[in-house]
Amino acid sequence: MTRKDILEDPSIGNKAEAFEAFDDIPTNPNLARTIGQVVAGRYSRRDMFKGALAVTTTTALFGTSAMIAPRQASATGTSRYNFTELEWANDTMHHVAEGYDAEILLRWGDPITADAPEFDVMNQTAAAQLKQFGYNNDYVGFTPLNDAGTRGLLCVNHEYTNEEVMFPGLGRQDQAAFAGMTPELVDIEMAAHGGTVVEIEKETTGAWRLNRDSRYNRRITPLDTKMTLSGPAAGHVRMQTSEDPEGRSVIGTLNNCAGGMTPWGTYLMAEENFHGYFWTDVLDADGKPDLSALAEADIKRHDRYGVPGMWYNWGVHHARFNLDREPNEPNRFGWIVEVDPRDPEAMPVKHTALGRFRHEGCETTVSADGRLVIYSGDDNRFDYMYKYVSGGTVGEDKAANSALLSDGTLYVARFDEDGTIAWLPLVHGEGPLTAENGFNDQGDVVIDTRLAADLLGATPMDRPEDAQPRGDGSVYLMLTNNSRRKPDQLNAANPRPENTFGHIIEIKEDAGDHGATAGTWSILVRCGDPSVAEVGALWNPETSTNGWFGSPDNAAIDADGRLWISTDQGGNWGETGKSDGLYALETEGAARGTSKLFFRCPVGGEMCGPYFTDDQETLFVAVQHPGTDGTKDLAGFERDSTFEDPATRWPDFDPAMPPRPAVVVITKQGGGKIAV
Ligand code: FEO
Ligand code: CA
Ligand code: CA
Repeated sequence: MTRKDILEDPSIGNKAEAFEAFDDIPTNPNLARTIGQVVAGRYSRRDMFKGALAVTTTTALFGTSAMIAPRQASATGTSRYNFTELEWANDTMHHVAEGYDAEILLRWGDPITADAPEFDVMNQTAAAQLKQFGYNNDYVGFTPLNDAGTRGLLCVNHEYTNEEVMFPGLGRQDQAAFAGMTPELVDIEMAAHGGTVVEIEKETTGAWRLNRDSRYNRRITPLDTKMTLSGPAAGHVRMQTSEDPEGRSVIGTLNNCAGGMTPWGTYLMAEENFHGYFWTDVLDADGKPDLSALAEADIKRHDRYGVPGMWYNWGVHHARFNLDREPNEPNRFGWIVEVDPRDPEAMPVKHTALGRFRHEGCETTVSADGRLVIYSGDDNRFDYMYKYVSGGTVGEDKAANSALLSDGTLYVARFDEDGTIAWLPLVHGEGPLTAENGFNDQGDVVIDTRLAADLLGATPMDRPEDAQPRGDGSVYLMLTNNSRRKPDQLNAANPRPENTFGHIIEIKEDAGDHGATAGTWSILVRCGDPSVAEVGALWNPETSTNGWFGSPDNAAIDADGRLWISTDQGGNWGETGKSDGLYALETEGAARGTSKLFFRCPVGGEMCGPYFTDDQETLFVAVQHPGTDGTKDLAGFERDSTFEDPATRWPDFDPAMPPRPAVVVITKQGGGKIAV
């Protein structure tokens, strides 16, 4: 399929689906493996229901009903999540399990500062948007400002924009050669990306509310927020541009998907699909970017990252997003950004030591000897899982802690067939990472992290999303799906071809130490409907029809070590019939692999967040792009959403208002912990 085919395909209903289709062309060159290699690998030990899965390796690899652990063979295990499970469905509203409240806290366009204008959706401006809550809320973090934790700073990423439901009369612009995108609309899009920091308070009624007068409230955007660069790529010749000849500062951050909070209370924003914002005026006959004027090495580098993606036409109006004008600008995105929410004057920092790729998230923990450890997935079909371990240890001093993010070792994961994992260091001068292979220094290694990881023989995964450490040496890796994996591209850690529903891998670092360079892994669940043999799903048989899910995306661990999973099925939700939602998934004992549905999104929305406050009494979740994904599959609607005609007008249900992405606060009726 060419880019032109994709844009003209009537079955691709919105921008997010088109993005995925573009990415169907995998960029990883290291894919071919023989079936023999796979079968020769050890499989059964990695399966969770020990003794219950007496299947041949071949069966396990290709999926039959034998892959579903038989009900009678498993000891009965009761989930430790004692809420009454929600029923699965898909409709225009959000729903939470009985006995809980789910209230809207912040919506796209809500004024966040005292001087912000009220939201006027028919007359939006970039100046207004810079003082209002951004679009497509994704990661949510919280850091308390008082001991009781009843006042604190909410940190929210705004990943991308959907112009067809944001702006009246516009429709999909990527399919219309961006003909309707004026410079003003582009600047609104830019102002709606990035992040938000706001102070919120818990009232005596138990409800949370925004404090609009707080001095901490601010937006971080790709339009106007200056950031500094730290680490091996700061000042590198490949980071220099005409606006920044030193290569040490960047305006803004792009496509901030998931993230993390550091142990010292700063907010990490992951830059994910940054390639989609870069543009070229030079196209080939298929309408694809033609980079042939560039040096061969640079073509290879940009190709491996999908640059320029041309999902947005910002490069038409802002020269820095045009590759023809600023060939180094893409090198300045794809990093982890650290924001100090307690210091509104502090400039965010892009920490290049953590590598450049499509960072889904960046969750932190500490090693046994107190060093900072960060896990991060590269969300692309056939890309890798990474971790970073600092040289020094986490202490009391905030500046010293921040410096840990520029002095450490970045590793990429190799999931071996024998159930072990090896963390391979990405260090210039070691192994193949030499000038001979295009790596002149550590700056080159981090700028071209993917190419370096290719040479080290990392394992190509089924789209690594959130990687959630538990602090006990366990890590839960969400592999959301990979419909393009072919039978000759299987490996033990990615055992299903055409993996439509994804799976979750549990890693146990050696000696329970997140700083270890080796460990073991197993598959916790293979997602999808366990009643359909061809799906090859694997759940604890206690999982009900409501409880199984597809496309795990983000995760949180509660104070009792329990796992919570949010899903993003994109336009494929019709394959399960279920809306995206939040599920409670057991990892321990006889109940291991049991999942229960806790919250579900309105149609077309993706479930983001989740984040628990320290007292476990509040759970923040985010509903991203309500009303957009796969609405052709919603019975009775069966068409793509537009501003004028959306599948839902969640959360306002005001005929004059389109659907609005929003952060939702979940509390237990009568108070207390969400899960006991
Ligand atoms: Fe922004 Fe990987 O989802
Ligand atoms: Ca995501
Ligand atoms: Ca997470």
